[in-house]
Amino acid sequence: MVHAPAKEAAAAIPLLKPYKMGQQELSHRVVLAPLTRCRSYGNVPQPHAAVYYSQRATRGGLLIAEATDISPTAQGYPETPGIYTQQQIEAWKPIVDAVHRKGSLFFLQIWHVGRVSTTDFQPNGQAPISSTDKQITPDDSHMVYSKPRRLRTDEIPQIVDDFRVAARNAIEAGFDGVEIHGAHGYLIDQFMKDSANDRTDQYGGSLENRCRFAVEVIDAVVAEVGADRVGVRLSPYIDFMDCFDSDPEALGSYMVQRLNKYPGLLYCHMVEPRMAIVEGRRKITHGLLPFRKQFNGTFIASGGYDREEGNKVVDDGYADLVAYGRLFLGNPDLPRRFELNAPLNKYDRSTFYTHNSVVGYTDYPFLEEKKEDSATRPHSHTNQS
Ligand SMILES: Cc1cc2nc3c(=O)[nH]c(=O)nc-3n(C[C@H](O)[C@H](O)[C@H](O)COP(=O)(O)O)c2cc1C
Repeated sequence: MVHAPAKEAAAAIPLLKPYKMGQQELSHRVVLAPLTRCRSYGNVPQPHAAVYYSQRATRGGLLIAEATDISPTAQGYPETPGIYTQQQIEAWKPIVDAVHRKGSLFFLQIWHVGRVSTTDFQPNGQAPISSTDKQITPDDSHMVYSKPRRLRTDEIPQIVDDFRVAARNAIEAGFDGVEIHGAHGYLIDQFMKDSANDRTDQYGGSLENRCRFAVEVIDAVVAEVGADRVGVRLSPYIDFMDCFDSDPEALGSYMVQRLNKYPGLLYCHMVEPRMAIVEGRRKITHGLLPFRKQFNGTFIASGGYDREEGNKVVDDGYADLVAYGRLFLGNPDLPRRFELNAPLNKYDRSTFYTHNSVVGYTDYPFLEEKKEDSATRPHSHTNQS
């Protein structure tokens, strides 16, 4: 009998190399970015979320669950999940179990939208709360957010405490940790950025003052669940929701230095500045490099990455992990597709935020299923990015 010569195992691409995050062994670097999907009816997570998340779970992977309301005033979009009632905690448990059974770590992103809301979402139709009473300037989307009410100084500790309790609840539900949502123009970002913070108390004015709310939230959450179960998401360069800073580099640096003061804080997750288009292709601008260099812990980069750019940034040490949003949304087996350099499903933007429990949610085909499925799929996905 003739044996074929032993083939050398193909070297793993950088994205599929193992990584030790704190005490956790990850088997690859392809993280599911937090993605609001608006399918938690009545703010209660639903059984279909167990299907959706476990489809995307891999042994040794890291999933970050969608932004989740910390309190009744935290909501700004329809059918977002909460983590402030016992019913919500219980509803998360089977979802977390399903992900754990597949061997992934699972973090919950905890948020408060602040002024990115309307009176319709607020208890008793009250005004959304914020760092400011300045309303978001309506843009082309025709979405009009209500004029917010500026929080009084003495009300702020309660909001900080809501974050703390939400983190504790997330751990009770079984999550491995929480990601504090300090990005994208929501409440924490409203305090941090000078376009949305016009306060004159100790939470406004200087950079230190504007970051005070964020730091108090992180303090409280770290004290409650431990630094090794806390990640923080920041987007100093993003101007979403009329929320931008006149000196994003100083803001990002200040926050990273603050994060370094928590020994063992698990990760810093930063969103890239907008993409540059170079020769017709989107290129990562590597605008997060100063923050990456300053941060002592695990650094996750996200925003616009594909396989090639992800491999590049892991290989050159710009990021430890890369979080994928839209590509992971449309490809439940994204790490496997990256491994094989297989073609990707196109994501369907029109169903990002719709409420169906299957369509555009759990019906994106896996690689192996693709051939037989494509003929019978009820709708085709079009990439409108
Ligand atoms: C449908 C959708 C929902 C999103 N929801 C959240 C969210 O809940 N929390 C968050 O921090 N970012 C959210 N984002 C931003 C993504 O996490 C990610 O940063 C963004 O999509 C850019 O990464 P990508 O180019 O890999 O998609 C969302 C993006 C999309 C497309």
